[in-house]
Amino acid sequence: VKAHHHEFIIQATKVKRLCETHNSITVNGMFPGPTLVVNNGDTLVVKVVNRARYNVTIHWHGVRQMRTGWADGPEFVTQCPIRPGSSYTYRFTIQGQEGTLWWHAHSSWLRATVYGSLLVLPPAGSSYPFPNPHRNVPLLLGEWWDANPVDVLRKSIRTGGAPSNSDAYTINGQPGDLYKCSSRDTTIVPINVGETILLRVINSALNQPLFFTVANHKLTVVGADASYLKPFTTNVIVLGPGQTTDVLIKGDQPPNRYYMAARAYQSAQNAPFGNTTTTAVLQYKTAPCCGGGSAKNGIKPVMPLLPSYNDTNTVTRFSQSFRSLRRAEVPTVIDENLFVTIGLGLDNCPKNFRSRRCQGPNGTRFTASMNNVSFALPSNYSLLQAHHHGIPGVFTTDFPAKPPVKFDYTGNNISRSLYQPDRGTKLYKLKYGSRVQIVLQDTGIVTPENHPIHLHGYDFYIVAEGFGNFNPKKDTAKFNLEDPPLRNTVGVPVNGWAVIRFVADNPGVWIMHCHLDVHISWGLAMAFVVENGKGVLQTMEQPPPDLPVC
Ligand code: C2O
Repeated sequence: VKAHHHEFIIQATKVKRLCETHNSITVNGMFPGPTLVVNNGDTLVVKVVNRARYNVTIHWHGVRQMRTGWADGPEFVTQCPIRPGSSYTYRFTIQGQEGTLWWHAHSSWLRATVYGSLLVLPPAGSSYPFPNPHRNVPLLLGEWWDANPVDVLRKSIRTGGAPSNSDAYTINGQPGDLYKCSSRDTTIVPINVGETILLRVINSALNQPLFFTVANHKLTVVGADASYLKPFTTNVIVLGPGQTTDVLIKGDQPPNRYYMAARAYQSAQNAPFGNTTTTAVLQYKTAPCCGGGSAKNGIKPVMPLLPSYNDTNTVTRFSQSFRSLRRAEVPTVIDENLFVTIGLGLDNCPKNFRSRRCQGPNGTRFTASMNNVSFALPSNYSLLQAHHHGIPGVFTTDFPAKPPVKFDYTGNNISRSLYQPDRGTKLYKLKYGSRVQIVLQDTGIVTPENHPIHLHGYDFYIVAEGFGNFNPKKDTAKFNLEDPPLRNTVGVPVNGWAVIRFVADNPGVWIMHCHLDVHISWGLAMAFVVENGKGVLQTMEQPPPDLPVC
């Protein structure tokens, strides 16, 4: 087994964007952070040294972490935070995953600047299930705030209101030349006539699903979330935060400069959003303009057409094109069947509130829940430590398998009482090896929304999705048990539902949450505790000696 050793120094670094210089938290002074490239089957050993003034943890988004839950990273779930001045070494092996994953801070809103890509190539000596590309190009779509992102979150929690929108979207940390002061802050992707490039597109934005397209070029989708797909072509792709998509493009157009662009899909109705476009430039090496690859030459790149902000049809058409390439091993018999509502909520403003009146709708504050439970993280222990050492009082295992009451989830007349969820640290216990189905149902409480739901420690099959209320009688007939896509994050359609299936073969504590960070902060999460099986290989590894304590 090949092991890759890295050191990540978390530190404050001066970063200039949109005409201003900021002290941003970075890894090794880089924004975005380092790209990790490994082969399927390799081991990663990353020592994270915290030299910043915030607590931090790093999550390896989409890595299955078989039996190595201690390396998963979400703060207070699988570990206590790494305090300023201390360090922790993450050690894990990539098994059976190929394509694009990524890593990001999993603490407060530090992931706004602490993130990078993790490319998993086929095992040494074997090849892609498509012609070898000439080059791999990771494209991290992100969001940039002029303010300190940790302060943006704190203010939103303090006032109970929605956090401010970001000031720019970015590609590989660069806003692109449609934003002020950004003509040099534009990512250039060179290409030769006849070349094929594998774009590894990652939505690392905090709160925004994004459309992405390349002017005049066809996109051939070959994978998503480190799992291969039956190839299909499209003009535009859409990614919720957390999702990745692997796309082949060919240098088959007249040598020129072409924009690659990303813009918001407004996933919530009536919510404010940033209506701006971030761009990178696909630049033919023989384009008459350029040499040197600088963006500040005369020729304006060709602008692509992007769908309009509310084009849910394009989103649906895109997600329904997904078919896994390999034979899917979807569980057909189900041991655990959960129905989970996903919704926002509004809570009373506490009496002693600092700003007196909360700044959510009608003086309330925002909250969010699954099955009407708003998830609260512990602070003295991580959930995994509490589970492993049998420490009582940290969590309960009574997360409800269905919502407390049945209602018209996507209707307009939702009872006021459902707006105010209970708070709790409720987990759901799964026996090792149990076959699990989860119906994820969006609700219209406060507002319907496309929620990117991410499960740690697992990939799951998305066997169906649709609009309205899930109807077990009618909708079960539509399940794809042949070749559904295998993913770690599913965009649950706005005013709709998605059904996922997986086998609980990875012991540990695994959080499932909305990957819109603002929603995690409001409690849109729950966690599974998956018990050890009988054999050694069905049992979690022991905690590493340098595991942080709270
Ligand atoms: Cu990419 Cu829990 O997150």
